[in-house]
Amino acid sequence: MKVMVVGGGGREHAIIKKIKENKTVETIFALPGNGGIAADATCVDIGAKDIDKIVEFAVEKGIDFAVVAPDDPLVLGAVDALQAKGIKTFGPNKAAAIIEGSKAFSKDLMKKYNIPTAAYETFTDMEAALAYIEKCDIPVVVKADGLALGKGVIIAETRDEARDAVRSMMEDKVFGDSGNCVVVEEFLTGPEVSVLSFTDGNVVIPMVSSMDHKRALDGDKGLNTGGMGTIAPNPYYTEEVAAECMETIFKPTIEAMKAEGRTFTGCLYFGLMITPKGPKVIEYNCRFGDPETQVVLPLLESDLLDIMLKIYEGKLAEAEVKFADKSACCVVMASNGYPQSYEKGFEITMPADKNIYVAGAKLADDRLLTNGGRVLGVTETADTLEAAIAKAYETVKTVSFENAYFRTDIGARALMAERK
Ligand code: AMP
Ligand code: GLY
Repeated sequence: MKVMVVGGGGREHAIIKKIKENKTVETIFALPGNGGIAADATCVDIGAKDIDKIVEFAVEKGIDFAVVAPDDPLVLGAVDALQAKGIKTFGPNKAAAIIEGSKAFSKDLMKKYNIPTAAYETFTDMEAALAYIEKCDIPVVVKADGLALGKGVIIAETRDEARDAVRSMMEDKVFGDSGNCVVVEEFLTGPEVSVLSFTDGNVVIPMVSSMDHKRALDGDKGLNTGGMGTIAPNPYYTEEVAAECMETIFKPTIEAMKAEGRTFTGCLYFGLMITPKGPKVIEYNCRFGDPETQVVLPLLESDLLDIMLKIYEGKLAEAEVKFADKSACCVVMASNGYPQSYEKGFEITMPADKNIYVAGAKLADDRLLTNGGRVLGVTETADTLEAAIAKAYETVKTVSFENAYFRTDIGARALMAERK
């Protein structure tokens, strides 16, 4: 089979490595991929948002199966465009991808179908939003409606900060049109859990749970990033919590999307908070999480491509979806200075036989050079979380590039939770 994966980060590298395990796969193209992914796939210089060129390429090459991984092309309708040309594709169509593309949509969906989430109000009028800020409880959370590279969420500790957040989104348009509409919501507390799930629109199968580490510095301090590391499974996601999520969140969401005429197929990501009042949805993503995928897929014992094909056929119930009874830890190595300014172009040396997922690198005369904020993620698995963390940090020592920065406490909070 000829497979094409749209995207070019660590998540896509993890998807590609897993798909490669399927014996029927002859070629994998990555659009655009990156210098590190080039070791596992043929990279093609077509951007993930360039839908016309993506479709043209798929038709020309006779692609048998396509996977659209990032949010932007999904929300723009890449799956619809590929399927219109007869290309079998994994991922939600545009109508379903709105579950991530519009926070106002997802909040209204949850309200309508009684799916637990933070209380909220939606505003398209700035004065109305500002008036609401004067009387709501503080802290409060202000979110831009549309995609904002994961940065459109502001947790305001004071009324002043909340006012500034509303003005920056609605007046100064710091997130462009994403801020035409804002959601102002209740501040929730509790540990966060990421649950990625496979769904064909009828059946939903959660994958092993995970925990992201979004802040740049140890101790969950510093700026928000795209994710500095992950562990799986997440100790806060007990069997009891999992059973409750299935009944109150996962199945109702799949049913709600179907009832709205927006049947969701692909990977639906549930960003959950385990609050004192039970699990609630913080956000939905219409795709695999990054860097959650880099710990979830290494634990998948079943054939990923087979699962994806079954989802395409609407027969997920027939697929084998089995995860190892082990733990995984992914430590992201970034360019020092990320998520603000940083230098790039430094040579990377790393072992070839490890689960290293490259996110920001390019090839120049066969040398792999850093080319982004998050450069790569090092994943190890082991029988226990403690051993997986220790192994991941051992492997980190074998990777080097100038100005490398990584957190030294990935998984530390999870280990403490385990010991309680
Ligand atoms: P999101 O982009 O919606 O995932 O939000 C980014 C992060 O902001 C989440 O991972 C949470 O840590 C935090 N967050 C979002 N919404 C809330 C909320 N209602 N209460 C507390 N924290 C939140
Ligand atoms: N790790 C969070 C996300 O993929 O959005």
